[in-house]
Amino acid sequence: MPTDVMISANTLSKRFGPVRALDRVSFDVRRGEVVGFLGPNGAGKSTTMRILTCFIAPTSGTAKVNGFDVFESPLEVRRALGYLPQRAPLYTDMNVNEYLEFAAQVRGLDEATFNTRLKKAVEVCGLAQSLERTIGTLSHGYRQRVGLAQALIHDPPILILDEPTSDLDPNEKAEVLRYIEEIGKDRTILLSTHNLAEVEQSCARAIIVSKGRVVADGPLDDIRSKTGRVRYVLVIDEREGAGSSRKPPTATEVQDSLERLAGASGVKELPTDETAHKFELGGAQDGDLRAEIFRLCVQKGWTLLELRRDAQTLDAVFRDLTRGDERLDRGRDLEEEFDEETDDEGDEDEDEGEGDDEERDEDAEAREDDSSEEDDEDDDDDDDDGEEESDEDAEAERKP
Ligand SMILES: Nc1ncnc2c1ncn2[C@@H]1O[C@H](COP(=O)(O)OP(=O)(O)O)[C@@H](O)[C@H]1O
Ligand SMILES: [Mg+2]
Repeated sequence: MPTDVMISANTLSKRFGPVRALDRVSFDVRRGEVVGFLGPNGAGKSTTMRILTCFIAPTSGTAKVNGFDVFESPLEVRRALGYLPQRAPLYTDMNVNEYLEFAAQVRGLDEATFNTRLKKAVEVCGLAQSLERTIGTLSHGYRQRVGLAQALIHDPPILILDEPTSDLDPNEKAEVLRYIEEIGKDRTILLSTHNLAEVEQSCARAIIVSKGRVVADGPLDDIRSKTGRVRYVLVIDEREGAGSSRKPPTATEVQDSLERLAGASGVKELPTDETAHKFELGGAQDGDLRAEIFRLCVQKGWTLLELRRDAQTLDAVFRDLTRGDERLDRGRDLEEEFDEETDDEGDEDEDEGEGDDEERDEDAEAREDDSSEEDDEDDDDDDDDGEEESDEDAEAERKP
């Protein structure tokens, strides 16, 4: 009986020299789930995905995909998953058909199987009209579709998609999400993004990472209530004589009074096209300020046009949970150096199906970092060091 847990990360930590990219990341993804892997830039999403797809080794911790350990059984792991890296490496001068055939060869598919799978992948990803087109001439959206088709060509039960919609315009985004939805009907998907709307649209569950740690994991509704806070929105008429003989208030008066309410926080005026003052404020989840707000309005003679108590928006929760500048927190100097180095790398398109070469280059740089940088920012725990990590990276590299 195969296990129902398709992806399992168990206390994964990863350091790149002084940068702690992952700090004991653990989560499970079950069969058939489409899980959003959310976090600001630099949170550790790609690093996690590269470990799960056997491209790099963690500094510590273990991971299983389809029940197989990513170190002990990388071949089985790769067979079970399709991976769309963040910068999908595509051979720009191949046509779509040639490229997918090549991806299939890398996967060891025979010709007959390839033909069947190609038909399916082309249908699912909407590529029927583009098979003969040179990849270099395709729009971003179409290239992502090709990337998806490549990830699907061996019909894997699990897909790991690293920011599949970044750099796409809204129409392309919607299309790619639609294809992912279609693909997700009979597959397990881990999809990274920093776009909340996408998660709300395509995933029932999200894992939020910040600074290399999992800060929330669960159904979106649970995550929305995660901060233990609710949001109130109220609208007060600002027209003279509207339902009250008293003078309507100014925005400042409303703001001041709301700020004085016990238990209210974050009072903020919102834009509105009505002749009214619209405000939002926060309160504890186990309380209810609506009666207080109503009484305040009665006492002041204000006309209350609207009053709502909502769960926090996912957006607010996300900001709350991932607050702080990732980059500032994590050794800006090194990070900038790293960014420059990767930029220098240029756009090599001569790598194979899953971007092994590109990934290797990055790893080689990471090793350079490891050996050349003193671990001076190392302020807490961890008994590992750069040396050890280089070995592990090298080991990961040797894997097929
Ligand atoms: N090869 C590398 N060498 C050095 N630092 C790296 C390397 N890859 C990632 N990092 C650092 O690890 C952190 C997490 O990066 P990443 O996993 O790419 O984040 P995300 O995908 O969430 O934007 C960042 O601070 C990043 O700069
Ligand atoms: Mg990334």
